[in-house]
Amino acid sequence: MYAICGATGNIGKAIAEKLLAHGSKVRVIGRSKERLQPLTEKGAEAIVADLLDTDAIKKAFTGTKAVFAMIPPNMTAANYRGYQNEIGQSIASAIEKAGVKYVVNLSSVGAHLPEGVGVVNGLYDQEQRLNRLEQTNVIHLRPSFFVENHISQIDTIKQHGIMATSLKIDAPLPQIATSDIADYAVKRLTAQDFEGKVTRDLLGPKDVSMTQVAIAIGKAIGKEDLKFVQVPHEDVRQSLIGMGISEDVATGLIELESAINDGSCSPTEPRSPENTTPTTIENFSKVFAQIYNS
Ligand SMILES: NC(=O)c1ccc[n+]([C@@H]2O[C@H](COP(=O)([O-])OP(=O)(O)OC[C@H]3O[C@@H](n4cnc5c(N)ncnc54)[C@H](OP(=O)(O)O)[C@@H]3O)[C@@H](O)[C@H]2O)c1
Repeated sequence: MYAICGATGNIGKAIAEKLLAHGSKVRVIGRSKERLQPLTEKGAEAIVADLLDTDAIKKAFTGTKAVFAMIPPNMTAANYRGYQNEIGQSIASAIEKAGVKYVVNLSSVGAHLPEGVGVVNGLYDQEQRLNRLEQTNVIHLRPSFFVENHISQIDTIKQHGIMATSLKIDAPLPQIATSDIADYAVKRLTAQDFEGKVTRDLLGPKDVSMTQVAIAIGKAIGKEDLKFVQVPHEDVRQSLIGMGISEDVATGLIELESAINDGSCSPTEPRSPENTTPTTIENFSKVFAQIYNS
């Protein structure tokens, strides 16, 4: 039996589906019975609970071989690090009370830094918190920038014919597909081959700049002249707030982008076969095009 947090999300859902396809027993945790239904139809046991409900997730974790833990994003949190720590504390307590032996924890590139990385600061806190669980083996997965983040550019492309970011557009950046993170998590959940507390960067197939991303996506959607345009941090912050994202989260996202731009938020491992994952930006662009055209 495995327990999967965030089981209706990008990574958790893919993990649950892969484990079920292998014939494993899986408990899937989410806040909505309806959203979990596609997984229960495939044989998963649904645990309808908020991750803040420590007792409920302790029950979900009890008797499992391994747990996939993650702190879901909450774009409207007034104090994002505080929100991350509340959820993180609940998950850590549940792991300890349930006596879980193996945890694959979704973290991020930059989570080795206690400050200066905005929305990733709370993932540093969570790594430290899980590292204090003496009886539990933990691997912290530190993926880089998700290629799926580009999907949020569809409206900008349709309205203005460009993609916009405050990241440097010509700096190579590791970018990863969430399905590759799920594949790696499944490998480690099922092998339970880690001991103590370890970390693993996950970096996509190679570093690509935003300019290269726009070329690949432009080709896939039939807009060969598509370009990424770099805009000031404050413009991005204001537009995020305009979209309903809280001021604290918008400020945290900008702090993270600044840290990526100045190089302070970067992988801690050199690229290697172990942290390199297969899905290329060209492959992702085909998925992007399907969503763009749907
Ligand atoms: N985007 C990036 O470039 C990037 C890079 C590195 C790391 N990360 C990290 O990756 C994580 C996001 O992963 P993802 O994309 O797979 O997430 P996601 O697609 O947003 O999924 C979040 C999941 O959590 C569930 N959820 C939300 N709030 C919950 C709560 N209070 N209690 C129980 N379940 C809750 C949601 O389901 P319901 O709504 O159905 O409950 C959903 O299944 C974040 O920790 C982020 O920091 C992101």
